[in-house]
Amino acid sequence: MEFIREYADWFYLIGAVLFILTLRGLSGPKTAIQGNRYGMIAMAIAVLTTFFVADNPVVWMIVGAMVLGAVVGIARARTVPMTQMPETVALMHSLVGLAAVLIAVAAIIHNNKLTELGPDLLAANGVDFHQMSRVHLFELFVGCFVGAITFTASVFAYGKLAAKKWAKTISGAWVKPVQAIIFIAMLGFGIHFFLTGNMTSFWAMTGLALAFGWVWIAPVGGGDMPVVVSLLNSFSGWAAAGIGFTLENNMLIVAGSLVGSSGAILSYIMCKAMNRSIINVLFGGAMGGTAVASADAGDKAPRNHRSGSADDAGFLMSNADSVVIVPGYGMAQGRAQNAVKELANLLKEQGVTVRFAIHPVAGRMPGHMNVLLAEADVAYEDILEMDEINSDFPATDVVLVIGANDVVNPAAKDDPNSPIYGMPILEAHKARTIMVIKRSMATGYAGLDNDLFYNDKTMMIFGDAKKVVEDMTKAINGGGH
Ligand code: TAP
Repeated sequence: MEFIREYADWFYLIGAVLFILTLRGLSGPKTAIQGNRYGMIAMAIAVLTTFFVADNPVVWMIVGAMVLGAVVGIARARTVPMTQMPETVALMHSLVGLAAVLIAVAAIIHNNKLTELGPDLLAANGVDFHQMSRVHLFELFVGCFVGAITFTASVFAYGKLAAKKWAKTISGAWVKPVQAIIFIAMLGFGIHFFLTGNMTSFWAMTGLALAFGWVWIAPVGGGDMPVVVSLLNSFSGWAAAGIGFTLENNMLIVAGSLVGSSGAILSYIMCKAMNRSIINVLFGGAMGGTAVASADAGDKAPRNHRSGSADDAGFLMSNADSVVIVPGYGMAQGRAQNAVKELANLLKEQGVTVRFAIHPVAGRMPGHMNVLLAEADVAYEDILEMDEINSDFPATDVVLVIGANDVVNPAAKDDPNSPIYGMPILEAHKARTIMVIKRSMATGYAGLDNDLFYNDKTMMIFGDAKKVVEDMTKAINGGGH
C-alpha cells in the first residue's frame, strides 16, 4: 500500500479527471450512463486512496461506516420512486452539510486537545504539532457554517418536498428581520472565533448557522423549492471543498468545487426557466412560493370548458400531420411514459410526425421528463427542449398535454398580475388543436387556474394519464386513417 501513498496525488488527479468526465457525461441522456460509470470509478479511487493515505486510520470504524452507508444507499436507491427523487436528493445534501460540521468540530477538538498537552510533551512523544494557522481557522469557520446552514436547510427542504407536517412555510413581517439578526450574529461569532480561536464563539456560530438554515428556507415555498435544492447542492459542494482544505485532501477540494459550481449553474438555469432571480427566490420568501400557491384560489365565476373522449382524441390525432406531446408531472404521477411511447409509435406508423416538448421545470425535478422518456426508450431526436420547439407550435396540428399544467399556462405570458408572469412556457396555446389529459380541473403545483383549459381550441380528456393514453391507442388501433 506504500505505492498508493507515494502516488496518492496521481490517483487523486485521475479521480478528478473522471469526475469532470462524469459531469460531461451527465449533461446528455445518451452519455448519462457512461457518466455515471465514470463517477463510480472516480469515487472508488477517491475513497480507497484516502483510506490508504490516512495516518493511523481506525479501520473498523471506517469500514463499518462504509458498509452501513452502502447498505442504506443501495436499499434506498432500489426502492425510491422517481417522484420522490427531489426530497431524497435534499436529504443527501443534508448529510454532506452534517459531515462538514462534524469534521470541523472534530478538527477543532483535536487541535485543542493537542494544545492542552503542550508542545514539550508532544515533542517528547514524537508528535509533530503546529498550532492552527489563521488560514486553517478561516477554512473551519467557513466550512462549518456553510455546512450547518446546508444541513438544516436541506432537512427542511426534504420535509417540505415530502409534505411533512413539521416543515411549515413561515411568513410575516418578522421573518426578514429575524433572518438578518441571526445571520449577522452568526457572522459576528464566526469572525470572533476566527480572530481569537474562542470556543464559545465557535459553538454559538454553529448553533446560529443551524438556526439560520431553517429560517432562511422556511419562508420559501411552492415552485421555488427545486431551485433551493439545487442551490443547497451547490452549498454542500462548497462546504466539502472547505473541509478538503482542513483535511488537506486535494480530491475533496476538487470534487467539492465541481459539485459547488455545477449546483450553482443548475440553480441559475432553473431561475432563468422560472424567470426569477436567485436573490428573489431566496429572499423574496412568501412572495414567491406561498403567494403563488394561494393565488387564484379565490372567487372567480365558473368558466366553461369543452371535454371529449379518448376515442375522439385518438381519431383527431391519427388524422393530423403533426402532433407535439407535452408531458408534465401527471405523466410521472400516472406512470404513463410507456403507454405514451406506444401511442407515439402508433401515430408515427400512421405517418404522423410526433415530437415531445420538454419544459426545463416540468415535473418535480430537473430532467424529470427526460429521465422518464429515456426509461420508455423514446428516441432522443424526438425530444425537444422548450427553446427548440416553441416556434413550431403555430404550425402544429395537435398538442397533446399529458398531466402538465403550470408549464403551459399562458398567464405567464399574458397576465401581468399572475404570480408566474414572465416565466417562460411551452406555447401550446398557439397550436391548432389542444388536448389536455388530466383527472379534473384542479390546479397544478403553483396553485393557479389555467386559461389554456378554457380555450376554444382545447379539448379536456379527463382521467388517469396512463388509462386515457391506452384508450387513445386502442381507439386508433380500432379505427385510424
Ligand atoms: P403541474 O403544474 O404540477 O401540473 C400537473 C398536473 O398533472 C396537475 O394539474 C394534475 O391535475 C395532473 N395530474 C396529476 N396526476 C395525474 C394523473 N395520474 N393523470 C393525469 N393527470 C394527472 O406540473 P407541470 O406542468 O409539470 O409543472 C411543474 C410544476 O412543478 C411547476 O410549477 C414547477 O415550477 C414545479 N416544480 C418543478 C420542479 C422541477 S425542477 N421540475 C420541482 C419542483 C416543483 P389533476 O389533479 O386534475 O389530474
